[in-house]
Amino acid sequence: MIDLDGISKQYPDGHAALADVTFSIPKGAVFGIIGRSGAGKSTLLRLINGLEQASSGTVTVDGKAVGALLAPDLRSLRQRVGMIFQSFGLLANRTVAQNVELPLELAGVPAPERAARVATLLERVQIADKADAYPARLSGGQRQRVGIARALATAPEVLLCDEATSALDPETTRSILELLAELNRERNLTIVLVTHEMSVVRAICDRVAVLDGGRLIDTGLTPDVLSRQAAADGSGLAGAEA
Ligand SMILES: Nc1ncnc2c1ncn2[C@@H]1O[C@H](COP(=O)(O)OP(=O)(O)OP(=O)(O)O)[C@@H](O)[C@H]1O
Ligand SMILES: [Mg+2]
Repeated sequence: MIDLDGISKQYPDGHAALADVTFSIPKGAVFGIIGRSGAGKSTLLRLINGLEQASSGTVTVDGKAVGALLAPDLRSLRQRVGMIFQSFGLLANRTVAQNVELPLELAGVPAPERAARVATLLERVQIADKADAYPARLSGGQRQRVGIARALATAPEVLLCDEATSALDPETTRSILELLAELNRERNLTIVLVTHEMSVVRAICDRVAVLDGGRLIDTGLTPDVLSRQAAADGSGLAGAEA
């Protein structure tokens, strides 16, 4: 589904954020990406949805090389690859419903259909009662549900999550992870989840990749990788807890 082949990324200041990273994310997986702060995790996610270009190597999503896409194809890639963030990224001057509606507006979906789809999405993430509220009036968990609904609006095949639960308390984190796991099962949605919390990886990821200083140091099934990392004294794991 997502193939990274020999990916390197230098930022314009010459900093090498990723160096020769190769691995694949199977369709329908819940795939974790872990590593210390600065390891290159967010950079990697931005390469997958075309927000950033690799300096060398190729990223392919569904057989299409992301780096080679021109504007119209990039737009369609972004519709197939949704993203949610630690900081939620909601627009403060739009209501919950209007936030979720935005990607549908951008995709040119007619207004009556937009309204119906927004209603369905808000029901699905269990936030329909807040449709007309502004983000400032919501709890962190409620905001992330809105972020998820917005990311799902264009019916993507992939959902990229960058520290999506890091701002949440443990109980709220659990409820958001449950929602992600349900969406993964219901829609065969491929989920790529960047996190520094080992408990999140254990709870939801079937596979995981470990980055350290821009290099891939391990990847495989979650229990295998976690036991290898524990044996290697937690190297590569940010704040590795037991
Ligand atoms: N726009 C940029 N310009 C220059 N350097 C950058 C840029 N974005 C990130 N970097 C550098 O690239 C490296 C990887 O950054 P990245 O944000 O991918 O790390 P991360 O693993 O997501 O870290 P964190 O866990 O703190 O979010 C870091 O050293 C960072 O300083
Ligand atoms: Mg990051």
